Amino acid sequence: MNRTLLSTLLAAAIALPSMAIAQAPAAPGDPNKGALKVSMCQGCHGIPGWRTAFPEVYRVPKLSGQNPQYIVLALKEYKQGNRSHPTMRGIAASLSDQDMADIAAYYSQTPLTTAAK
Ligand code: HEC
Repeated sequence: MNRTLLSTLLAAAIALPSMAIAQAPAAPGDPNKGALKVSMCQGCHGIPGWRTAFPEVYRVPKLSGQNPQYIVLALKEYKQGNRSHPTMRGIAASLSDQDMADIAAYYSQTPLTTAAK
């Protein structure tokens, strides 16, 4: 076995376990941690019937009582660009998988409020 091949194999052996860690799924969401991470979301999502004025007048969907998998999926779609709302894309891009899981756990456990009409 030549040296180059050997060092390639060694590098792979070192890299593989850390790749496994990087790809490990996020731990189950913790609603208490989520509560600390939603302060910036509440300005839009915490007000029943709220509409944003930027980049266009838009009805903000309610998150309370929403299914946690749905919240995580929606956030990932914004982050990956599969959903195109510019504000939410910017926000989702700053969230880790763990942040998303915690936030989803928090919102799914807050009771649905009746939207003001
Ligand atoms: C500036 C206002 C604003 C802020 C701040 C904001 N959002 Fe949003 N969010 C919106 C709007 C508007 C939409 C609807 C966009 C669309 O139709 O794609 C949305 C959509 C969503 C959706 C998809 C809901 C659905 O029913 O499909 C999720 C999930 C979400 N936001 C989570 C968050 C979280 C978590 C935060 C904080 C980390 C946050 N948002 C902060 C305005 C905001």
